[in-house]
Amino acid sequence: MVAPLRVGIAGLGTVGAEVVRLIEEQSRMLSERSGRGVRVVAVTARSKAKKRSLDLRGIDWAKSPLALASDPNVDCFVELMGGSGEPALSAIEAALKSGKSVVTANKALIARHGLRLAKAAEKHGGALNFEAAVGAAIPVIKTLREGLCGTGVNRVYGILNGTCNYILTRMEHEGLSFAECLKDAQRLGYAEANPSFDVDGHDTAQKLAILASLAFGTKVAQSAVYVEGISSIAPEDLRAAEELGYRVKLLGVAVRTAKGIEQRVHPTMVPKSSSIAQVMGVTNAVTIDGEGIPAITLVGPGAGGAATASAVVADIADVARGIRAKPFGRPVERLRDITKAPMERHEGGYYIRLMARDLAGTAATIATRLAEQKISLESIVQRHPEGVDANGAAKKPSPVPVILITYATSEDAVYRALEAVQRDKVISGRPQVIRIEKN
Ligand SMILES: NC(=O)c1ccc[n+]([C@@H]2O[C@H](COP(=O)([O-])OP(=O)(O)OC[C@H]3O[C@@H](n4cnc5c(N)ncnc54)[C@H](OP(=O)(O)O)[C@@H]3O)[C@@H](O)[C@H]2O)c1
Repeated sequence: MVAPLRVGIAGLGTVGAEVVRLIEEQSRMLSERSGRGVRVVAVTARSKAKKRSLDLRGIDWAKSPLALASDPNVDCFVELMGGSGEPALSAIEAALKSGKSVVTANKALIARHGLRLAKAAEKHGGALNFEAAVGAAIPVIKTLREGLCGTGVNRVYGILNGTCNYILTRMEHEGLSFAECLKDAQRLGYAEANPSFDVDGHDTAQKLAILASLAFGTKVAQSAVYVEGISSIAPEDLRAAEELGYRVKLLGVAVRTAKGIEQRVHPTMVPKSSSIAQVMGVTNAVTIDGEGIPAITLVGPGAGGAATASAVVADIADVARGIRAKPFGRPVERLRDITKAPMERHEGGYYIRLMARDLAGTAATIATRLAEQKISLESIVQRHPEGVDANGAAKKPSPVPVILITYATSEDAVYRALEAVQRDKVISGRPQVIRIEKN
C-alpha cells in the first residue's frame, strides 16, 4: 500500500478553498484514479484569524509559505496565492530544491519565472504543473504537452480572458458602448476595479506566452507578445462585423509563419461560422491547428474557484501517479529564444472603418491609395446619411462611414495606404483597423 500524497496548500482564497474542499469531497475517487490517497496535511494564508467556510481541523497551519514549502511532511506544494514575485517565487523554488513537486495556478509567475522554475524542477526531479494557469478548467496545457506530443502545431489561438469576452458579447447583443459594458462587468464582479490588466490584453498575453512555449518549443517570453486591448472597439464595429459575417473577439494568437513565430493579442474579426465565434460571455476557448489534423477547439470555464480547482486537483493527481512531465514539454535547455515579431510585417485580412467626407472623388481617392499598396478588397460597404432633417430638408453632406474588408495583405501596406488617405483629407478622424483571423 503506497502512502498517501501529502499536500501543502499556500493560499486559501477563491481557488485554494475550493481545492481543499474538492480533495476532501472526492478523496475516494481521487485515490482510485491516481492509485494513491491524496491528503491535505498543511495550509497557510496571509491571516490565520480570518473566518473561512472551511473545515481545517486536523490540518497544520504553517507560519509562512516558505515554511510550508520546506516542511519535510509535505510531498507536494500547491501555490495558490498569486502574484508574479514574492512570496510565491521563493516558496516554489524552495519546494523544488527540496525535491518536492509543485502545482500552481499562477500564470503571472509562470509567464515571468517559468523557465527558472522549470530548470529547478528538472534538476531536482519534482514536477512543476500549472494546468490551471491558462483557461482554468480547460485542459489545454496537457493537450499541447501530452495529447499532441506527436503532432506539430502551426497555430494556437483563443479567447483567454472572460472579462473581455463578456464585454464584447454584451456590446454585440445590446449595442452598448465599451464603457457601459465595463461598468456593468465591474458591478457584477466580472471585472476588477482596475480593469487595465484584463481589457488592455496583458492577462491574455501572459497566458499566450505560456501556450506558445508549449506549442513551438520557444522560451516563455511575455515581452515577445504584441498586445492591444479592446477599449477602442465601438458598437458600430460589432454591427458591421455582424453584417459582414464576422464577430469581434479578443484573441491571443501564436502562429508559425515563414518569417518566424508571431505572438499577438488584439481584437480580431473571426468568421461567424468558426467554433471560436460561438463562444460567448465569460467562457474561454482555445483552438489548436495541428499538422495533418483538423483544428481542435477546447471550450470551457476560464475562471472561478470550482473550475480552477478542478485543474489544480488534476495536477495534484498527476503528482500522486508519479508523472513528472517536463514543464514545457521538453528540457529547458532545448527551448529556443524568441523575439517579438514586428507587426508591420504581419500578413492577413483587415477590417477598416473610415469616416469618408462626402466630397466628389472621395471613393476614387481611397481606391487609388489602396491600389498603390496592392491591397484588394473583398467587400466594401458605404452607409449614406438617410432621409431628411427635422425641418424636412435633405440631410447635409457629412462624413459617411465606409467599411472595407481587405484580402490578405501586409500591415505595413494598410497603414501606408491609410496615411496617404489621411494626407488627402478625404476622411475625418482616425481610421479603425481590426485584423481578421480566418479558420
Ligand atoms: N480566481 C480565479 O478564477 C482564478 C482562475 C485561474 C487562475 N487563478 C490563479 O489562482 C491563484 C489564486 O487566485 P485566487 O483568486 O484564489 O486569489 P485570492 O482569492 O485573492 O486568494 C489568495 C490567497 O492567498 C493568500 N495570500 C496572499 N498573499 C499571501 C502571502 N503573502 N502569504 C500567505 N498567503 C497569502 C490569501 O490569504 P488571506 O485569505 O489570508 O487573505 C488568500 O488566501 C492566482 O495565481 C490566480 O491568478 C485564479
